Amino acid sequence: MATIILGIETSCDDTAAAVIVDGKLRANVVSQQLEHENYGGVIPELASRAHVERITAVVETSLSEANIDKKDLTAVAYTQGPGLIGSLLVGNAFAKSLSLALNIPLIAVHHMQAHLLVHFINDNFPTPNFPFLGLTVSGGHTQLVYVNNAYSFDVLGETLDDAAGEAFDKTGKMLGLPYPSGPIIDKYAKLGTAKFTFARPSVPNLNFSFSGLKTSVLYFLRSAQEKDSDFIKKNLYDLCASIQAAIVTVLVEKVKTAVKQTGLKQVVLGGGVSANSGLRIALEDFDMELFLPPLPYTTDNAAMIAMAGYLKFKKGSFANLTSEPKARTSI
Ligand code: KG4
Ligand code: ZN
Repeated sequence: MATIILGIETSCDDTAAAVIVDGKLRANVVSQQLEHENYGGVIPELASRAHVERITAVVETSLSEANIDKKDLTAVAYTQGPGLIGSLLVGNAFAKSLSLALNIPLIAVHHMQAHLLVHFINDNFPTPNFPFLGLTVSGGHTQLVYVNNAYSFDVLGETLDDAAGEAFDKTGKMLGLPYPSGPIIDKYAKLGTAKFTFARPSVPNLNFSFSGLKTSVLYFLRSAQEKDSDFIKKNLYDLCASIQAAIVTVLVEKVKTAVKQTGLKQVVLGGGVSANSGLRIALEDFDMELFLPPLPYTTDNAAMIAMAGYLKFKKGSFANLTSEPKARTSI
């Protein structure tokens, strides 16, 4: 009998559902909440309301695209955390209700682990072998992770303040760009030159810090605009190239050090910032095997939740109705 896993993702501002049949992706539906663009960031209350409005339709669409009837599901996997608590609650409650109504197992998935396990989707892109070095770079997280296997992850280093995606989004906001600014900075950076230098705070070991970079951009822009109020407009592409170069340099240096320290030869990227073209190009220069997720699997999606759920299902690792959503939880 086929193993059919429904994955549900509602950790932030994307309502998503996916279906995996015997390890193969059959449907992957994402409804993006574009309304946050106007606010310069995700408004938690708006995000949870939008999840409530959309989740039934998103799940039903994923099942019909996969040509699967609810009653044939083997298990339901959902993002337990980390994320916005109100958003998580919607997916958690929906998954628990389905599990109860259909009498099928419930699988709680860690969002950041799933960003790395997305590479195991059998979808014509290469799959790493365990153990490997993971770099998770998203709007809320930046971590270097020793991935022993699909169920065991050790954090080697992480950000002490802002995440890499946050650094893109917050500096983008200073430039007057809409949220999320990461993809826009990436696009504009290609048209400019990294001619401005911003602080690249050095923190010991494999931890990261991006708040100094953010402050450095803020002070630089303030003083430049005092002299020329059109400075940002005139230099937008070069500013984007310079900000991207600074963030990428910090990430790449730490990856290099981690490769040296662990002796691991495979580096696997996950999370929204892994879509960044500057980061992708910079990492390709190293003597290591690089695994980059295809672009649709970089930002939040439910395919990664269904895949992580499938791997946990094979191990028999189940949650129950008392498992609580976790806004903050270590990988
Ligand atoms: O993984 P993700 O979709 O959501 C979280 O789990 O946080 O990551 C979203 C983050 C945002 O900060 C967004 O600006 C950033 O990923 N991002 C990018 C790019 N695409 C998305 N940052 C830089 N370059 C990109 N191409
Ligand atoms: Zn994410």
